[in-house]
Amino acid sequence: MTVPLHKNSGRKNRLQEFLAFFVLFIGSSHFSSAEFYLDVLDFGAVGDGHTNDTQAFLDAWDEACGSLGNPIMVIPKYMTFLVHPLVFSGPCRSTSITVAVIGTVIAPDSPAAWKGKDPGKWLEFIDVSGLTVAGLGFGALNGRGLAWWNQSCRDHPRLQGCTSVAPTALTFSGCNSSSLNDIVSLNSSQTHFLIINSKAITVSNVMMQAPELSPNTDGIHIHSSHDVFITNSVFSTGDDCISIGDYTSNVVITNVICGPGHGISIGSLGRGGNSVQVENIHVSRSYLKGTTNGLRIKTWQVGRGYVRNVLFQDITFDSVQNPIIIDQNYCSEKGLCKEMPTGVHITNVTYTKMVGSSSTAVAINFDCDRSVPCTGLNLRYIYLWPVPTDLDGTSKITPAVTTSCANAHGYAVQVDPPVSCLQS
Ligand SMILES: *[C@@H]1O[C@H](CO)[C@@H](O)[C@H](O)[C@H]1NC(C)=O
Ligand SMILES: *[C@@H]1O[C@H](CO)[C@@H](O)[C@H](O)[C@H]1NC(C)=O
Ligand SMILES: *[C@@H]1O[C@H](CO)[C@@H](O)[C@H](O)[C@H]1NC(C)=O
Ligand SMILES: *[C@@H]1O[C@H](CO)[C@@H](O)[C@H](O)[C@H]1NC(C)=O
Ligand SMILES: *[C@@H]1O[C@H](CO)[C@@H](O)[C@H](O)[C@H]1NC(C)=O
Repeated sequence: MTVPLHKNSGRKNRLQEFLAFFVLFIGSSHFSSAEFYLDVLDFGAVGDGHTNDTQAFLDAWDEACGSLGNPIMVIPKYMTFLVHPLVFSGPCRSTSITVAVIGTVIAPDSPAAWKGKDPGKWLEFIDVSGLTVAGLGFGALNGRGLAWWNQSCRDHPRLQGCTSVAPTALTFSGCNSSSLNDIVSLNSSQTHFLIINSKAITVSNVMMQAPELSPNTDGIHIHSSHDVFITNSVFSTGDDCISIGDYTSNVVITNVICGPGHGISIGSLGRGGNSVQVENIHVSRSYLKGTTNGLRIKTWQVGRGYVRNVLFQDITFDSVQNPIIIDQNYCSEKGLCKEMPTGVHITNVTYTKMVGSSSTAVAINFDCDRSVPCTGLNLRYIYLWPVPTDLDGTSKITPAVTTSCANAHGYAVQVDPPVSCLQS
């Protein structure tokens, strides 16, 4: 595509092109597959890593969103685009939009760029359906989170003006039938990818990476969403590789590599007394290495509602702390949460076919709620062994691994260490 002299002539060129498409395809059954490209360079983006390319991205998006046919918004290869916090809003006229992030998109490196904006978001798609964000194996989002980490209340509680909310790199909010594929997300200021109020979302071949000690840099967080598939992806972050929040159902996670990080978590659920509805969560064929938890379900005492029909299958652990854990006394700070008569009911959770090493003495830990015990915990074919040295170096050798249960009902078959603490 020729580079127009200025934006408006670019628009005219595309209008002509679009009309040509229209003439070609109107009345034809091929109309719906009419693809056309909207290159951000044609909208004035510079891609030198310094120029503010936000407006060009917005203009390209507006044209894509307002078009018929199947627009492909192109962020070209081998270039770096500095983009300020930005909302790509729908609903769109087009029922299928691809954003091809083949180059690199970087966030401002200073929290000052969020002044007057939502500090919780960097790039956000709202109410868009049929969206594909694809990196084609080249694309990267770099959240450049260092300055946010430096002022996080978690790591600097005494710093005046410390922040507990930092931008999530990418958000799909109210999006249906959409996907994120073949892309790398680096150094997000907080969560890398948030899926919220959405359904039928596919994530495949993504890599999400932040330093092990960076605060709250979860890989993917899913909240109030249904039918989410995550496959063939690699996470190494400072928090959960994948976490699942309240009001979420039908999640399939398969072929995932996780570590370092805090593991794969259902929770924390029920914060602030929410009535949790989480069901049909399947995690399979995954590998966790050096994480601070393996497969975790964590709920707040004040929570209500349920977590049910969960299946964890074909999992390998390598030097993982707490490989299998249910923590129903989850609290942001030790001692801050009182025991409550409420609780989230955890039921029908199956753990099957798992092997690997635990770097904590308690390899299987079910710490369930006293007033609402866990029921239907099923364990089969699990073999866990100690690693020679604790990760934190406090003890030289974990001689054996054990299990621990409180208020936990279910059964275990062929599990080593034996889970004799389960009540029937
Ligand atoms: C970058 O551009 C966007 C869109 O025009 C604008 O809202 C934002 O304030 C700009 N930021 C800076 C630092 O220039
Ligand atoms: C997504 O699906 C929900 C539920 O069916 C619907 O209310 C919403 O309008 C859809 N959103 C879009 C952007 O199509
Ligand atoms: C973050 O903190 C480190 C260590 O104190 C310092 O070297 C660095 O300059 C800070 N970076 C930013 C962007 O604030
Ligand atoms: C991510 O952040 C870390 C810590 O600041 C830094 O060492 C690393 O180079 C960053 N990675 C990228 C790709 O920017
Ligand atoms: C228990 O959960 C499994 C896995 O999600 C599901 O297949 C099964 O139907 C559930 N059982 C009941 C009784 O709901």
